[in-house]
Amino acid sequence: MNLLFIGDVVGKGGREAVKRLVPELRREFNCSFVVVNAENSAAGNGITGSVASDLLKCADVLTLGDHTWDQKGFDAEIRNLDRIIRPANYSKRQPGRGVGVFRNPASGEVAVISLVGKVFMKDSAYDPFETVDEVLAALPPAVNTILVDFHAEATSEKEAMGYYLDGRVTAVIGTHTHVQTADGCVLPGGTAYLSDAGMVGAARSVLGREVDAVLHKFTTGMPVRFPVEENGPIRLCGAVVGYDSATGRAKSITAISREVTL
Ligand SMILES: [Fe+2]
Ligand SMILES: [Fe+2]
Repeated sequence: MNLLFIGDVVGKGGREAVKRLVPELRREFNCSFVVVNAENSAAGNGITGSVASDLLKCADVLTLGDHTWDQKGFDAEIRNLDRIIRPANYSKRQPGRGVGVFRNPASGEVAVISLVGKVFMKDSAYDPFETVDEVLAALPPAVNTILVDFHAEATSEKEAMGYYLDGRVTAVIGTHTHVQTADGCVLPGGTAYLSDAGMVGAARSVLGREVDAVLHKFTTGMPVRFPVEENGPIRLCGAVVGYDSATGRAKSITAISREVTL
């Protein structure tokens, strides 16, 4: 059994690339379940209800991150979106939910959990390690296929989470840095791990933003907006996790990176 995970989708170009490539990738890698991190899918910042509905035409579940609440009104919209998962270690007083159990069309169920890191992150999130223990303890025992999107900056915190959850979940895949890492592996206990899946955004950009704007910031220190780079080819990054549906243990993880001109 295989599932496909796609990293942070940035803006309209990112969304169009997902819609173009995900159906092909589903067939190519025989993936029955697709999870997409959509925290930058609405103009680079957050998500809206209509953007979510659009992406959910080709994804089974969307995860979010530190940009969850960037779009005005999404706090109301998320209440009606049962296939969107926001970070579990945000306050329980926030709308939405941090874990969901979904039917895998091929076989069984898949639990999807979103967590944000604390190292070098601005949010006042709760401890992701404590939170994930609580979330896992509350899952129905029959659910053995569990995907964790750990949305964090520091590779140390991500690797630590991988080992913390090794043998308890199917995969820990990092998001947020927008740069794919080359450290995909199956840990000793049977958990697939990748520090960062990468993004779906302009191939010639800085994390999906216009190069000149980011350079202006770094070279002058002046405040500047960072427009989403909407020109040129889009690079789509993610990972395919192969697993045993009887045990939920991972067999393989393959990072993928494709470039498409829309
Ligand atoms: Fe992001
Ligand atoms: Fe992020």
